[in-house]
Amino acid sequence: MELRAEDVFRPGAFPEYTYISRKSAVSNLPYEFRLSQAIKVSGFLTSLVGPSKMGKTILCEKVIGFDRIVEISGADFNGDMEFWRLVAAKAGLAYKGQFSTEHLIADTQDKYSKKEEYSLTKDKIIDYYNKENLILVIDDFHYAPGEKRMLVAQQLKDAIRRGFKAIVVSLPHRSDEAIRQNADLSGRLSLINIEAWKVEDLKEIAKIGFGKLNIHIEDNVAQMIAVESLSSPQLMQYICLNICTILEMDSSNQDTVRVELLETAYRYTTANFEYGDVVALMKKGPNTRGKNRNLFTTKDGNEYDLYELIVKSIAENPPMMKLDFDTIRKRINELIADTCKKPTQQAIKESLAKLQELLNEREDIFKVLDWKEGILYILDPLFLFYLRWGGGQEG
Ligand SMILES: Nc1ncnc2c1ncn2[C@@H]1O[C@H](COP(=O)(O)OP(=O)(O)OP(=O)(O)O)[C@@H](O)[C@H]1O
Ligand SMILES: [Mg+2]
Repeated sequence: MELRAEDVFRPGAFPEYTYISRKSAVSNLPYEFRLSQAIKVSGFLTSLVGPSKMGKTILCEKVIGFDRIVEISGADFNGDMEFWRLVAAKAGLAYKGQFSTEHLIADTQDKYSKKEEYSLTKDKIIDYYNKENLILVIDDFHYAPGEKRMLVAQQLKDAIRRGFKAIVVSLPHRSDEAIRQNADLSGRLSLINIEAWKVEDLKEIAKIGFGKLNIHIEDNVAQMIAVESLSSPQLMQYICLNICTILEMDSSNQDTVRVELLETAYRYTTANFEYGDVVALMKKGPNTRGKNRNLFTTKDGNEYDLYELIVKSIAENPPMMKLDFDTIRKRINELIADTCKKPTQQAIKESLAKLQELLNEREDIFKVLDWKEGILYILDPLFLFYLRWGGGQEG
């Protein structure tokens, strides 16, 4: 059967044909090995931490397999449902119920049926998981409300002693304290840190995938897409899929990924992302309470305030997920016309701090930056990609 592009490049699901196994730069061991090893240690909880869209969920699915994995999202803890009840439900066990038994009435042939209530206990649920060899993955733990995280950690602490196997997946810096800095769990944790993807590994997705589809791609073209993917395999998969769609629509029936296609593919890819409000909020900055902001004239003859300039500087070439203050300042100064006065260092730093504050007050999708100790971290690669290629970058 001939493969279709959407089977090969799968930005939102398990990439059966383009799964890449990579090694941790720190341990030099494949991540699959690290995770299988961690799961095998009885009595330990595995904490898997890594930046957004780096393949944490896919790694769990690959290593555990779909027949043994039971996935719960941190967001599932937003309701009132008790922890073990959720753990039971996700494994297909009814927590509470009725069963009827038939009894013979003494000295007759008549039967009567008796309804009995049952309720699964935590012990029974743990037994079931052990017997069926199931592994609980609590994914996106950062979505669980703060107070629930501690409760979950306590429940897990007790369960893992009895052979229950669980992996907690979360983003770095936020939310993993309930697990990693929990004194009760110390000495009982297997820690795995997922690092950002290297260009070399990302390139493989394009090479293998286009190879499967009999589409030719030069090494340097795969390299360009990999750089633009900002260390995210998901972006790589998205861009490659869109390239296929563009090729399919092209009547000249080309079977080569040409460089001229790339920008169109990048722009089409941003259509899937919803960062318009985030970019608008950043450009607007905090409320000025009626005061006018300083405006700077740029080399292209437009006028922007400092917040707009910061947004523009982040989007500049080359794409970077981590910018030190000097780089930001240089990029801003480069944008501004030679004849125009430049903003002070102090002003740039203050605006960065205010931007971060502004974004942190909002919903999760707004948490795209972290300005910390003189370095600006872009937390969400899709956001930076949107900034570079989305409709929002003009003025
Ligand atoms: N090992 C891999 N090889 C190829 N593609 C991958 C790999 N891992 C992830 N991807 C691609 O990246 C996408 C996102 O991966 P995944 O959902 O596992 O990321 P995540 O780190 O769990 O993200 P989030 O922080 O949003 O939960 C996958 O749907 C897949 O397209
Ligand atoms: Mg995930």
